[in-house]
Order: sequence, then C-alpha cells, then structure tokens
Amino acid sequence: MKRYFILSFLITLTICSLAEARIKVSGRGAKMNFNPDSISAEYKESFELMSIKCIKCHTMERTVIAIQTGRAPITGQPFNRQAVKAYGIKMLRKPNSDMNKKEIRDIVIFLNYLLKENAN
Ligand code: HEC
Repeated sequence: MKRYFILSFLITLTICSLAEARIKVSGRGAKMNFNPDSISAEYKESFELMSIKCIKCHTMERTVIAIQTGRAPITGQPFNRQAVKAYGIKMLRKPNSDMNKKEIRDIVIFLNYLLKENAN
C-alpha cells in the first residue's frame, strides 16, 4: 500500500513539474503566442520587447514553433543556443529590423531562457 502511495506521489510530482517548467502557448496560426502567465517576472520586459520587435515581418508563430520543436520552421535548421545567437546577429544586420544591440541581446537572452524552460 505504502509503495503505491509513494509511486503515485512521484508520478504526480513529475507531471506537475513538467507542467510548471514548460512555457505555455495559446492561440493558433497567426495568433499563436507564448502565454504571458507562464513567463517568469524577470523576463516580462524582454517578452514585451519581443512582442513589438519580432512581429514586424512575420507573426510570433514562427518563433513559437522554433522554440517548441527545436527546429527553425523556414530553413529546418536546429534552433538551439547557437542558432539563437546567429539569428540575433542576422536580425541586427537586417537594415529594416529597427533593433539596436541591447534589444537584440535582451531578446537572445530571453529566447535562451525559453529554450531552457522547454527542455526541462
Ligand atoms: C526585418 C524583418 C524581420 C524582423 C524584424 C524579424 N524577422 Fe524573423 N524572419 C524574417 C525573415 C525574412 C525570415 C525568413 C528566413 C530568414 O531570412 O532568416 C525570418 C525567419 C524567422 C525564423 C525562422 C528561421 C529559420 O531559419 O527557419 C524565426 C524563428 C524568426 N524569424 C524569429 C524572429 C525573432 C525572434 C525576431 C525578433 C528578434 C524576428 N524574427 C524579427 C524577417 C524578420
């Protein structure tokens, strides 16, 4: 009996921590976005920044899918820490991206946080 109790306790714990760790997503298609409630308070500002800067040329769907699947949806390249950094630099170089170095840096740090949370 006791063993079953411990087992079900462990299972519940695992399920809860998974639900806790993953960044939730809401909406579909063009409306797809990260759920702000599951983003840690210290990253709220970066999330707001990303929500303004990164939806100029395409919707957030692209970023959400890249984080969720670990694969960049257009090129099919792995979307990991290295790719995030490379993508940040690429954005910075785009003449019409309207982002400065600090903004890119903040978003890169934020994307790495999202990747880390989703990998748990
Ligand atoms: C100036 C327009 C523009 C802005 C601003 C922009 N993107 Fe993009 N994004 C593109 C284009 C164009 C592509 C298609 C592939 C490419 O050129 O890299 C793309 C592709 C992507 C992809 C898929 C990459 C792949 O290799 O499949 C992701 C993820 C992404 N963008 C995230 C972001 C994030 C995060 C931001 C904010 C930091 C952002 N984008 C801001 C134009 C933009």
